[in-house]
Amino acid sequence: MGVTDPTIDLVINHIDVILIPETNADGFGSLRTINHGAIACAGDEIVMIGTHDDVMAHVPECKVISAAGKLVAPGFVDAHTHPVFFGTREQEFKMRALGKSYQDIALAGGGIRSSVRKLRSASETELIDHTIPHLKNFLRHGTTTIEAKSGYGLSVADEIKILRVIKKLDSMQPLDLVPTFLGAHEIPDEYRNDRQKYIDLIINEMIPLVVDEKLAEFCDIFCEEHVFTIEETIKILGAAKDAGLQLKIHSEQLASSAATKIAAELGVISADHLDYASDDSLQQMKLRGVTPVLLPGAVFFLGLKTYANARKMIDLGLPVALATDFNPGSCMTESLPIIMTIACTQMKMTPEESWVAATLNGARAIDRDHRIGTLKEHYVADLVVWDIKNQDYLPYHFGINHVVMTIKKGQIVFQNKA
Ligand code: NIG
Ligand code: FE
Repeated sequence: MGVTDPTIDLVINHIDVILIPETNADGFGSLRTINHGAIACAGDEIVMIGTHDDVMAHVPECKVISAAGKLVAPGFVDAHTHPVFFGTREQEFKMRALGKSYQDIALAGGGIRSSVRKLRSASETELIDHTIPHLKNFLRHGTTTIEAKSGYGLSVADEIKILRVIKKLDSMQPLDLVPTFLGAHEIPDEYRNDRQKYIDLIINEMIPLVVDEKLAEFCDIFCEEHVFTIEETIKILGAAKDAGLQLKIHSEQLASSAATKIAAELGVISADHLDYASDDSLQQMKLRGVTPVLLPGAVFFLGLKTYANARKMIDLGLPVALATDFNPGSCMTESLPIIMTIACTQMKMTPEESWVAATLNGARAIDRDHRIGTLKEHYVADLVVWDIKNQDYLPYHFGINHVVMTIKKGQIVFQNKA
């Protein structure tokens, strides 16, 4: 019997397999495993992780959860979501099944702008009530932190309303929300004939307010044909950077462009989508330490064919992250396991790579890899008990929820009754 640590108040023991994502020299990261392990927590932190016998030698009388026959992994970190919207867009989903494209629908006034019209009619309370069930779905499917973007308001008042809702939601329920300002998601209806005016509004009014009220950590932009141009991106991200926000970009989702390269030069922490990213874009990301956030769920959901070249990115040593892109238009799912399946089948990522991408590399994309995304001492006790025998099984048996229990900051926040 070793010396017990009296601060330990929760232990998960008899764990068949523990998955531990780690950074390594190749840049992408890897997965270490411990068989027959245990994890001890004190408050919201992990204090000990190792083999069952080693850990149990230090555990005082406390709450014990047996995970015999189960796998334990860090909670997923979903680094790209648009969770605050009002009303859904299944009609557009049907229109695509009947042959319309995402761009056709957007240009006809649907798409992001239809979500904007709906969101503007909602109060903060209505938005909170609308979003909470979705946040529960994240927890039920093993996600313990999400990055959450604004972007369906597109007016000063409505963008601020969304960011305030994100802040309130973060404090009133267990899932962590990391806020991103995405006023540059689309040009709203009332500025279609004077886009410059809307860009001025973002730069002169929205960004200063967001920063003054500490409502976001990141500023993002949708840089694509028919949305924001590269010149506009340089102006908006430049202003956000000067105001003290970290930067992100939606780039090369629908066509190849210089957007990723320019964004890398501006110092973005992540470039997201990248389905058409050129070799030059990948080299620039490598050079500048940009994390690629891949969203294959959006390609799948929109019925498109071109997925990001994850293999090339991994071979280059880029720390590829996988995220859902959860939103009512281009990817209506909170489930990262489904995204891992799509990543393995369509982008030829291995199951092991998909785990690293949905945990540690996701944390890196939101500047949290020093606290979450893996299991180690002094990291946050965000962990998930899975009813699977090995890491490969999760993306393999898809469309089924294998979560037994989700633990957030050392507390059980979801338990599957099945
Ligand atoms: O990330 N690409 C831009 N924005 C979202 C789509 C939002 C919508 O259609 O409502 C995305 O895919
Ligand atoms: Fe997005």
